Amino acid sequence: MTGAPVMSSVDDVTGAAPPPVAPSAADLEMMQTLLRLTDLFTPSAVRAGATHGVFSAIAAGSTSADIAANRGLDAEFLGILIDFYDEVGIVTRHGDAVTLTAVGEALATAESALTMRGMFGQTARSMIGMDHTLATGEIATRGVFGTDFWTALSATDPNAETIAREMSAAGVDDYDSDLVRDAIDWTGVRSVVDLGGGRGDLLVKLLAALPNARGTVLEYGHMAAVARAHTSSTLLASRIDVHTGSFLEQIDLRADVFVLSGILADWHEADALTILSHAREAASASDGRVVLAEIALRATSARERLYHRTVVSRPVREADELIDLAARAGFSNAVVRAATPRRSVLELTP
Ligand SMILES: C[S@@+](CC[C@H](N)C(=O)[O-])C[C@H]1O[C@@H](n2cnc3c(N)ncnc32)[C@H](O)[C@@H]1O
Repeated sequence: MTGAPVMSSVDDVTGAAPPPVAPSAADLEMMQTLLRLTDLFTPSAVRAGATHGVFSAIAAGSTSADIAANRGLDAEFLGILIDFYDEVGIVTRHGDAVTLTAVGEALATAESALTMRGMFGQTARSMIGMDHTLATGEIATRGVFGTDFWTALSATDPNAETIAREMSAAGVDDYDSDLVRDAIDWTGVRSVVDLGGGRGDLLVKLLAALPNARGTVLEYGHMAAVARAHTSSTLLASRIDVHTGSFLEQIDLRADVFVLSGILADWHEADALTILSHAREAASASDGRVVLAEIALRATSARERLYHRTVVSRPVREADELIDLAARAGFSNAVVRAATPRRSVLELTP
């Protein structure tokens, strides 16, 4: 910064302290720029309100006192928060009456995606662990929560409903999942286990094409509850089970095909090898095979690359690398059945 006031200097001739110099417009602008680049304060204040439904409550005409009473919030703190929202142009406050500005209305609409709970919130909170990723290469979730993303998600308050709502609201990007159904010969397959199958969308798609097959989603923690609720609401409910477990442990399920879709990106090499080895052992014990349907999170900007790498260990593993991993996990054969920029589908023989 240029021309910053040096408050402690003393006039060489008179010994008197010089009058303080007001910061120049350039200094103030630079300070604003620094705040824009470094401020965690405003996002935290906005997300605190979103988490507790403050914006939608204001949109519905509630006063600060009503919101505190209805939602069990600290009335004093909420009052200060709403004054701050007024200062930054999110609301206009006249005494008890609070109204949303245009930005506030947009926030009220987007509120459920801005909470600090569920998957979106955990991702947002993970971002402050980027220093951990910089120091170690591990995902930021490990720095903030001390564990992988999914374990941290299931360790927090019972938020299966929040997760289910987020997945429905966002829609589930299936990353060319039709390829998994279309690139594999499913002839004679009577049973499929989807390891880490999320809420069960891919399994439903596969079983719709395999009328004589049954399927199981192996899922972990809250996501198993989400899968149970979702699959039981589909027309194929009677052919789908959900099993709560972990692919980081030995897998006792038996099936003709074990699917791993969009799983390995989350994991560093050692964990990826563990998951693949467990899938291979289960397929081997079943006289079956593994379909490895990995997704690629390709970025178009440094910001997007940074985001992906903060959240997952290996955003992109090309087919060659997957073949190499499969060989090291003990598979006797790996064939690439399809590959697009967003997904590689490999068939692995134990
Ligand atoms: C990126 S999502 C992929 C979901 C789904 N397979 C798909 O293709 O959309 C990763 C999934 O792995 C699950 N998962 C994470 N850790 C797990 C574990 N230890 N055992 C089983 N599933 C796990 C998560 O709950 C999540 O649903």
